[in-house]
Amino acid sequence: MKNNKKGHRTRKQLIAEKEAASKRLVDQANLLKDPLEALPGFHSYTTPDGTEIKLQCHRVGDLDNDKLTWIFSLMERNMVEYYKASSWGWNQSSKRKELTEPTAWYLIATMNDELVGFSHFRYDMDFGIEVLYCYELQLETKARRKGIGKFFMNALEELAKKSSMKKVVLTTLKKNTDANLFYEKLG
Ligand SMILES: CC(C)(COP(=O)(O)OP(=O)(O)OC[C@H]1O[C@@H](n2cnc3c(N)ncnc32)[C@H](O)[C@@H]1OP(=O)(O)O)[C@@H](O)C(=O)NCCC(=O)NCCS
Repeated sequence: MKNNKKGHRTRKQLIAEKEAASKRLVDQANLLKDPLEALPGFHSYTTPDGTEIKLQCHRVGDLDNDKLTWIFSLMERNMVEYYKASSWGWNQSSKRKELTEPTAWYLIATMNDELVGFSHFRYDMDFGIEVLYCYELQLETKARRKGIGKFFMNALEELAKKSSMKKVVLTTLKKNTDANLFYEKLG
């Protein structure tokens, strides 16, 4: 890379170098076999009523059809009305495409072998910095208000730290009051 007249790297060059370093961190994270393996404290969680929840991490490409069908179904059951009420509207095929992009990772929670919740997340660049982007956090109704959502978010934060991501980023729909109260509660 060329330097300026004084032999210093220009601001533009510094920004490009920083972005390239961030991109390398994202690529490294995406090469992991199982990012959750390094976090043994997040493989299971016991709810206040004594139920054990197990958490596993998978690349989207490693999910079987049953899990994918359940992911699409839970997503739609939980969110379709909020999407319809938003400026985005609901588009089933584009949502399914987003959920199955090759860079998608999933945390999946089971309760006695029953699928009860998932988070779709990605290691990605966002406004020039390396982030863990939480695309979805979706729980079955019966699994809510037991601390499982908080457990997922803590796991995502630790996964982000472990791979040197700068932030955990997410988007919520304004009308989704429950989700907004939940995220506010977590600070
Ligand atoms: C939003 C969601 C993930 C929250 O998960 P959860 O397991 O029910 O939440 P938790 O039990 O971990 O709650 C964590 C904290 O948030 C608070 N909280 C959770 N849901 C809340 C609600 N609806 N209203 C007010 N506070 C709420 C809890 O009181 C708790 O506080 P505490 O730690 O002081 O006890 C879950 O309700 C869900 O899957 N909703 C449907 C899908 C959805 O909207 N996803 C978010 C899309 S962005």
